[in-house]
Amino acid sequence: MMDSSGNTAGGPIHHIPVMLSEVLEALAPRGGCVYVDGTFGGGSYTKKILEYADCNVISLDRDIHAINNAKYLETFYTPRLKLINSRFSQLESVLENINIEKVSGIVVDIGVSSMQLDDNARGFSFQLDGPLDMRMGNDGPSAYDVVNNLEEDELANIIKILGEEKLARMVARSIVRERSVCPIKTTFELREIIAQAIGWSYRKVDKKTIHPATRTFQAIRIFLNSELHELKQLLHISGKVLETGGRLVVVSFHSLEDRIVKEFLNYHTGKNRAVSRYLPIGDLDEKNSFKYVMSKLIKTGNDEVSKNPRSRSARMRVAERTGEIFRENLDIYSKSYDYKDLLERL
Ligand SMILES: C[S@@+](CC[C@H](N)C(=O)[O-])C[C@H]1O[C@@H](n2cnc3c(N)ncnc32)[C@H](O)[C@@H]1O
Repeated sequence: MMDSSGNTAGGPIHHIPVMLSEVLEALAPRGGCVYVDGTFGGGSYTKKILEYADCNVISLDRDIHAINNAKYLETFYTPRLKLINSRFSQLESVLENINIEKVSGIVVDIGVSSMQLDDNARGFSFQLDGPLDMRMGNDGPSAYDVVNNLEEDELANIIKILGEEKLARMVARSIVRERSVCPIKTTFELREIIAQAIGWSYRKVDKKTIHPATRTFQAIRIFLNSELHELKQLLHISGKVLETGGRLVVVSFHSLEDRIVKEFLNYHTGKNRAVSRYLPIGDLDEKNSFKYVMSKLIKTGNDEVSKNPRSRSARMRVAERTGEIFRENLDIYSKSYDYKDLLERL
């Protein structure tokens, strides 16, 4: 059962939400409207939206634990909250199943929650010893499969691109060497191999100090959970299911994610539709189906960063659906880092 702070039988829910007041201002919830929180996590966004206006919220999380931990909230807010265990790339069919055609706002806060990081059995963190898992959902290949089965080149590429790790080649080479002796089974084994390969010393990146394993762990997690592909799907769905005036709010922590959101919005707000270097952009008659609201890129304030250092790299982008037709175009991104084929091979 719950108490008012949201502690449950499954353990405390202690995710500190990032940019909570900015998200609320951006979404501007109104009574009688329907909103989607695509990344429920510890539920802070959802609760705030429900408290702010007499509206309805459909909250998704691909992690069944996040949903099960918060079932009590559904009762608490009956009938205004629906909690659904699903990936946000499935939002269109989720809405169809509950007979909702349009929504007034969508928010996603991409990435991993503190509850996931702090549970050693989930294998997300190099700071806790556990099995190499890292799956947000509970199906599909795990980090163990990635680390023990991908070719050296493939591993190096993923670690370099998704982890932005300059020493990716050395890390990949060490992984392949070590696994030929014995499969790599735990987070600490992998951490040790990375640190042996590139040195144990912490590095300074963007004013913060990071452990040598940070970037490799991040890369494996993003790859394994198809996080960039998920985001693109969500953006395209938002064009279809947001009503006129409905808002899209995306909080992300990784420069590749932010770039995807920026490219999507720049295209659909008309900024780079006609002049893109990359595309068979084509349709110059297309009208802007989104417009920017607030400034184009919103960063965390100093106050929040001092209280919650994790929020330092957060970026928020907000846009509003116009009344123009949305034309789906999946080729608007300068680069594709989905690695879907590699994932399917595992
Ligand atoms: C950073 S936390 C969200 C925290 C939340 N805003 C809060 O206030 O507590 C991210 C959550 O999104 C979930 N998630 C990540 N990718 C997802 C996806 N593609 N579909 C649905 N949930 C996803 C994760 O399982 C995790 O619980």
